Amino acid sequence: MQVRDNQLYLGGIRAADLAREYGTPLYVYEEDTIRARYAELVESIPYPKLRIHYACKANANVEILRLLRECGANAETVSQGEILLALQAGFEPNQILYTCSNITVEELRFVLQSGVTMNLDSLSQLRRCGELRPGSSISIRVNQGIGAGHHAHVITGGPESKFGIDVLQLEEAKSIAEQYRLTIIGIHQHIGSNVLDEAILIEAMKALLATAARLPHLEFVDFGGGLGIPYRPDDRRLNLRAFGQEASALFAAFCRSYGKELTMVLEPGRYLVAEAGTLLATVTDVKRSPHRTFVGIDSGFNHLIRPAMYGAYHPIVNASRVQGQEEVVTVAGNLCEAGDVFARDRTLTRCEEGDLLAILNAGAYGFAMSSNYNARPKPAEILVSAGRANLIRPRERLEWSSPY
Ligand SMILES: Cc1ncc(COP(=O)(O)O)c(C=O)c1O
Repeated sequence: MQVRDNQLYLGGIRAADLAREYGTPLYVYEEDTIRARYAELVESIPYPKLRIHYACKANANVEILRLLRECGANAETVSQGEILLALQAGFEPNQILYTCSNITVEELRFVLQSGVTMNLDSLSQLRRCGELRPGSSISIRVNQGIGAGHHAHVITGGPESKFGIDVLQLEEAKSIAEQYRLTIIGIHQHIGSNVLDEAILIEAMKALLATAARLPHLEFVDFGGGLGIPYRPDDRRLNLRAFGQEASALFAAFCRSYGKELTMVLEPGRYLVAEAGTLLATVTDVKRSPHRTFVGIDSGFNHLIRPAMYGAYHPIVNASRVQGQEEVVTVAGNLCEAGDVFARDRTLTRCEEGDLLAILNAGAYGFAMSSNYNARPKPAEILVSAGRANLIRPRERLEWSSPY
């Protein structure tokens, strides 16, 4: 993101020109940011047998998956659909991990046939997997009782979390595996999302390694995702270098005592793509009521649900006039819902109808969580770099066919 002549530029292109060409609302992803985040992550972790499995759920556009594959990433998926997208993006089955929750036997059968490695989530899944494929190699997801994240909805470890096999049931898991001759080659955990405190990540790693020591045939330990990014102006950036050094030292020491050099797996989603994405929307209505100024835009929580769902903060910039006279406003969407608000009491440069707003850090869990609520179509997505833009998903169109 750059500012020239008081206007916002993305990937070297004026946001207003992108909006004119592709219309709004529009998701814009800056390729260079994704490449930089990936490189920075890998460089920060000196442990040599490292595998990054990009969590496709954060942004499953097939071109984003291709880009991350090109950077060197593997894929982490959570549904049959995501496996298909990862394959479409060119990942080989042995580059794909699958971590699921409450799936049907049909989905389990599909996953087993597809050849991807599964992180099994429950004792019952383990049993079913054993019945369908006795003698196979599997990985298990454990719940160590540690959870973290920016909102209760994204905390995926601890007693209230639906995910994983409770660590207290590890012996039962091992005996089911033995009954069906399943080899547990991997152990996995994911404690939550948008964690900005390295100490919590390290604490969770230590807990997982203590459990890993009880499984004799491991090939990899998967510490999940959760690396956060600063959304609020006062959020501090994760100290990736410190985290990478400590995690590597910890893991190397574990491998020495385990007697084998295992693969360290991380499954970041948000960290790689969040800061690359911007949702551009046009100001359709400025309502200066006696109490508040409402800046209405041509998007809603059907396109970016994080503020409505988690109370999440996204920086917002008036792309048409980055600096100037300011006012405090509520930025609201076009859905018929009182909670369709992107920001309250936000200071923006004074908005006029027709201005372009840029909602920043929207590359993760933005389009991926979008819906057609209120029967509104989804936006287009473009990838920009060095002054070039590529349409990577066309805008959805309303189709009308008479029922009569
Ligand atoms: C199993 C698993 N792995 C990885 C991730 C990616 O998390 P994040 O985007 O916070 O890195 C998630 C997110 O929910 C997840 O559930």
